[in-house]
Amino acid sequence: MKTLFWRQGKLHLLDQRKLPHETVYVICADHHAVTGAIKDMIVRGAPAIGVTAAYGMALAAQQNQSSSTTDFLIALQEAGDELICARPTAVNLQWAVARMLAVGQAHSAKSTSEITIQLINEAETIASEDVRVNCAIGEHGAKLISDGDCILTLCNAGALATAGHGTALGIIYTAHAEGRKISVFACETRPYLQGARLTTWELSQANIPVTLIVDNAAGLLFQRKMIDMIIVGADRIAANGDVANKIGTYPLSVLSKEHGIPFYIAAPLSTFDLRLASGNEIPIEERSSREITHIAEMQITGNDTSVYNPSFDITPAEKISAIITEQGIVYQPDNKKIAELFSKQVQWTTNHK
Ligand code: MRU
Repeated sequence: MKTLFWRQGKLHLLDQRKLPHETVYVICADHHAVTGAIKDMIVRGAPAIGVTAAYGMALAAQQNQSSSTTDFLIALQEAGDELICARPTAVNLQWAVARMLAVGQAHSAKSTSEITIQLINEAETIASEDVRVNCAIGEHGAKLISDGDCILTLCNAGALATAGHGTALGIIYTAHAEGRKISVFACETRPYLQGARLTTWELSQANIPVTLIVDNAAGLLFQRKMIDMIIVGADRIAANGDVANKIGTYPLSVLSKEHGIPFYIAAPLSTFDLRLASGNEIPIEERSSREITHIAEMQITGNDTSVYNPSFDITPAEKISAIITEQGIVYQPDNKKIAELFSKQVQWTTNHK
């Protein structure tokens, strides 16, 4: 089941709000619909919303082909500004929009229809690159997994959160395909329940044993030595290695440090934001109080309950055993190692410790 695909000039998005009970695609014909789909969580997960935004830019280009080149490029910029505002934390959104705008500029001497073709091709390239990158993350990360390992994960960093294969779950898929017998504990991920609704569904479809726990059960699992490692995804990684990911990631990192269990982040290079010195600078999305006061359509609190609903938290680099990227594994990430990863001054390999 594909998270998203482009067909006959329109973007088709698997409606993740309806999973696991219904598999329905929403069709976006313009970039406003794409912005709405990202805001409404029809599509979610950092790499997936980046790819979706790229297609949103292609749709904006299609709509403005009859304009002058100057107006076309202005309309593209405005579409990018709108898409970027859909969700603030995952940097992949800005990364994809910037890449699409650069393609627009690079071909600005051509006709608007030719630039549009280039932009559609670029969105397709971003989507297929994402799958390749995730497979590379999977190959590097799978080397950290032994036969019989039990892995704890939070939220959904699987195929549904990307154009395919996934990041954290991609590592699990690769290890499973390589023949290792592994099992997974999935935290339910209150309040939006990505773990309960999406991760359990994805892993079950792949025949990987998965057990759902409430988020608060994680501590007991550590105490009873029921897990061998944590692998989660990321929404933005600062230059010093601090990571923004789904709310609840930071407490898991504290538990893993306390219990001496490896804590791994799986993320593509497009999730790094080297403009930000530390995680303190990463904007944290706050979502509607209704996500907490209601379960499905049922209100579980009094009418006047005050609610704070941050959707992400920051895990400091010092709590992270390694960040697994398509370029290899960065153990105990810090400014220097991340700068080296990007400058490629060091040959990154899976045994570089
Ligand atoms: O609010 P969401 O569902 O978009 O949050 C998703 C996460 O926090 C994921 O862990 C992250 O985006 C990485 S997905 C490969």
